[in-house]
Amino acid sequence: MSRVVLRREGELWWVGLNRPDKRNALDQATVTELEAVLAEARRQPCLLLVHSTTPGIFAAGADIAELRDRDADAALLAINAGLFERLEAHRWPTIALIDGPALGGGCELALACDFRIATPQAVFAQPELSLGILAGAGGNWRLASLVGLGMARKMLYAGQRLAAADALDAGLVDEITDDLAGRGAELAAAIATRSWRALELTKLALRSQRQPTTTFDVAAQALLFESPDSYDRMTAFLERRR
Ligand code: COA
Repeated sequence: MSRVVLRREGELWWVGLNRPDKRNALDQATVTELEAVLAEARRQPCLLLVHSTTPGIFAAGADIAELRDRDADAALLAINAGLFERLEAHRWPTIALIDGPALGGGCELALACDFRIATPQAVFAQPELSLGILAGAGGNWRLASLVGLGMARKMLYAGQRLAAADALDAGLVDEITDDLAGRGAELAAAIATRSWRALELTKLALRSQRQPTTTFDVAAQALLFESPDSYDRMTAFLERRR
């Protein structure tokens, strides 16, 4: 079964995360499939709508079973950080449709999109520090740029979870709706009536204001991946579930 289900509807590309048994945890296979979609999507004007094929979840973050065995070298490959950079750099706008937990890398995936539309069931959190690692795939700075440093600190340091309404208040989501696909399609269709070239250049213009990078975060993650603390904490997560 494909980890990512792509449905093209003209210029609207529905990118479905499709790993329900692991709550769409982003393993290497998922990342590889998403990278392939992004590479293909650069070749013609299209808007990406990133969603879960299963209701009630967005993505549970990086795959902890894989993460536990990653070392400094793997961290420096910047697997998720690189994916989210390329998603953010998609030539035309992207929309995340969130119907459930968007945790860790799942939250960072949503943050890398231009828009976030959520249902009342959505919840956002960055649990990385509980696992002995950090939000090294953009969470450390993309979150703050949306919700401000104060709320980013609460989420990153204290693990505060934001329910959909709080996420709307904080500026993390743009809209709450029960009709996720409908509202996503509506927004995308409105954008798709505009000039593709002007959209692309506007996106580039907005990106030029973006100062931070994940360079430091990736190096810091390399340090944390090598620590016994993160190994023990991730083992605790995996074993609690058995
Ligand atoms: N990585 C790997 N496996 C994960 C995972 C992750 N990030 N999140 C969930 N899973 C797996 C569980 O281990 C479980 O596997 P199993 O059925 O083989 O035991 C399966 O997905 C279902 O998870 P479960 O916790 O039973 O589902 P739930 O619906 O009760 O809860 C979540 C869903 C997302 C709230 C919960 O799984 C969770 O908190 N996940 C971890 C989130 C996290 O810390 N992410 C940060 C990663 S950096």
